[in-house]
Amino acid sequence: QTGKFTYDPGFLSTASCNSSITYIDGDKGELLYRGYPIEQLATQCDFLDTCHLLLYGELPNLEQQASFKKLVTNHTMVNEQMQFFLRGFRRDAHPMAVMTGLVGGLSAFYHDSTDINNPKHREISAIRLIAKMPTLVAMAYKYGIGQPYIYPKNDLSYSANFMRMMFGTPCEEYAPNDVLVRAIDRIFILHADHEQNASTSTVRLCGSSGTNPFAAIAAGVACLWGPAHGGANEAALNMLEDIQRNGGVERIGEFIKQVKDKNSNVKLMGFGHRVYKNYDPRAKLMRETCHEVLSALGLHDDPLFKLAMALEKIALEDEYFVARKLYPNVDFYSGIVQRAIGIPVSLFTAIFALARTVGWIAQLNEMIADPEYKIGRPRQLFVGSKARDVKPIGER
Ligand code: SDX
Repeated sequence: QTGKFTYDPGFLSTASCNSSITYIDGDKGELLYRGYPIEQLATQCDFLDTCHLLLYGELPNLEQQASFKKLVTNHTMVNEQMQFFLRGFRRDAHPMAVMTGLVGGLSAFYHDSTDINNPKHREISAIRLIAKMPTLVAMAYKYGIGQPYIYPKNDLSYSANFMRMMFGTPCEEYAPNDVLVRAIDRIFILHADHEQNASTSTVRLCGSSGTNPFAAIAAGVACLWGPAHGGANEAALNMLEDIQRNGGVERIGEFIKQVKDKNSNVKLMGFGHRVYKNYDPRAKLMRETCHEVLSALGLHDDPLFKLAMALEKIALEDEYFVARKLYPNVDFYSGIVQRAIGIPVSLFTAIFALARTVGWIAQLNEMIADPEYKIGRPRQLFVGSKARDVKPIGER
């Protein structure tokens, strides 16, 4: 390519493209799903409403809400054979290693929903993935701690069902705490989609080859795992715990100095964003949720929350961060909320993948619905050696 850019649907469908799903204004710090501000969705809707919106373009009315909930609820169980996938992993395997395997493994069970170019198959696989991700994440957690799996219970809400599968045991019934269920549901909403981020680009590129939907979503899970992307919530909490262990608020100045030192390669995890050059609206909602959950649990003096707010205050006033327009992103507070709910730090990114699955599916469907889409085939500008001949090894 000599600088002249010609329209190539295959390339645009994966690297950058027109979309009607999520709108982000990085300078204003605005995020809308299908035109609805994230602030309204996070406070007035639940995650399944948000799934319906992302998949079908509209919030459900009462009848649609009931039938969509029933459809998802009736697909929450996984094939019993999935347990044998889990048994192949060490108990201390990272949950994202397990999830990458389990999600890809779903392709082996649901042959009636593997043709990505068949709209019916796409719809069935979408419902299955949204319904089964909580079950798989909870199974990965239970497997890691050596507890029996808890089956989904169909009279619970989506998020209450997930909390029960995570924290329930056969010995005693799990009583969902409404504040915690609301908090996890809001975490799902805030992570549901985010335009053309790295893992969404991965899912689009993978799906553009015609592979099955489960495999394409598994590719998104693998990409999300990286600490620069979905793994940042785990890295941000580990960073806060590390600062807390080494002196807490008093150590912030020294830590900020390390971040500014180019040779240290230390980043303020949970800060900065490829698109937001203002406050990530999700971070504001996450901080509010943090406050609600900690207060409800009588943990308003949680030292990590105090440390996070002190770190945020100092960073937002520091020239280094101001000049680079670095603000908290969705990952800065989400770890503190999840830790307060009782979710282990190693599971944070798996929860992110659970939530983002609906966004990946909506983006995949949008790409496939474009009659001009082709397999993604980005080109490279070759800057290597000119043509040359092979010499006998003695002359090399
Ligand atoms: C997610 O794309 C999405 O939408 C992703 C996501 C989604 O919902 O899918 O929003 C989820 O991935 C959120 C981001 C989570 N990642 C982290 O919190 C990890 C820490 N943040 C960074 O690694 C970083 O901010 C990135 C990777 C997110 C963005 O990196 P960029 O593109 O380099 O950021 P930039 O161009 O704005 O950086 C400008 C400057 C650079 O310094 P200089 O070379 O100009 O001196 O700011 C520096 C960067 O080195 N910088 C940071 C920093 N982030 C950028 N310095 C310290 N700490 C940071 N966190």
